[in-house]
Amino acid sequence: MRPNIIFLLNFRLIIPKLKTLTDEIILWYKENKRILPWRSTKDPYKIWVSEIILQQTQIKTGIKYYVKFLAKYPTIQNLAKAQELEVLKIWEGLGYYNRALNMMKAAKQVIMFFDGIFPSKYIDLIQLKGVGEYTASAISSICKDEKRAVLDGNVYRVLSRIYNINTPINTPKGKIQFQKIADSLLPNKNTGIYNQAIMDFGSIHCTKHKPKCLICPIQKTCQGFKLNLVKNRPVKKKKNTIKNRYFNYLLINNKNLFIIQQRGNNDIWKKLYELPLIESKATIKAENLMESKYIRQFDLLKISKLNSIIHKLSHQKLNIQYWNIKVDKNVVFDNEKKINIEDVDKYPFPTPLKNFFNKNRLV
Ligand code: ADE
Repeated sequence: MRPNIIFLLNFRLIIPKLKTLTDEIILWYKENKRILPWRSTKDPYKIWVSEIILQQTQIKTGIKYYVKFLAKYPTIQNLAKAQELEVLKIWEGLGYYNRALNMMKAAKQVIMFFDGIFPSKYIDLIQLKGVGEYTASAISSICKDEKRAVLDGNVYRVLSRIYNINTPINTPKGKIQFQKIADSLLPNKNTGIYNQAIMDFGSIHCTKHKPKCLICPIQKTCQGFKLNLVKNRPVKKKKNTIKNRYFNYLLINNKNLFIIQQRGNNDIWKKLYELPLIESKATIKAENLMESKYIRQFDLLKISKLNSIIHKLSHQKLNIQYWNIKVDKNVVFDNEKKINIEDVDKYPFPTPLKNFFNKNRLV
């Protein structure tokens, strides 16, 4: 019997197209995406600001800093002309201060090499100080739909679970393997939407703790779920242990005046301000402090311990003691300033010092 061609054609037309993983993630995003201030723009300058802030910051905190940053520096020209002290003040409390310093350098690069027009192509973006593969991919896909797949912590987690990959994500081998998969899932169009979709999916659905597997639209495809290995993915190679450091901050004061100094470029809290600091090998007592060369330069009236705290950074645990040091007169050395208590607010300080001033009602 001859096959009925018309029947075959009709049959082909009604076969439903199977949803791909990419389609499922985009569909999920359309129904669940977060409304965020940078989602209503494709201005590469604003997207860059948001992406740099979000690199090490939770969305909720990031929103506040994004709004504050753009209110102060609405254009790249404003940022290129800004004072370092002011930019660090805006960044105060956000941590990883190198990000702000690099943004200022990138702003100057945009003025010098891109005629003041913030680039949106990957090959241009990657030249900017502080912009790596992730940021260049995010900006170029969000603003121009360039075909660049992002790989951030969320994407690693989602992919490692769906494909049950146990290669550590923080190794060169892992990076190559995950990038290949991420590239293969990227659609031809709307790459910016897809990139944001998979990041949001990881951030609010396929979360580190308590992922919503039971109501997950891709549960059937997820190898990690099938093998009950979701909580073991992703795998990370253990890095060096946390380093303990012992900081002694000195409130060297005479009447309402006390001394502050600016930090250097080669350690944590780059270029921020702080009280004079004596770093020791362990917790010390007042008599050890008095032996220090720095303290011996003052005519001491009184030395007393104020309080001590522990401040944790990603790779360091800071054991901080604050000391009250009353002096006859404030002598100021290189790189130090004598400031009035009311002026504290004019300088950017690391979080433990800002908290210290607040707590002691010095602000
Ligand atoms: N994390 C960093 N950038 C993001 C973005 N654009 N969307 C969702 N999560 C993000």
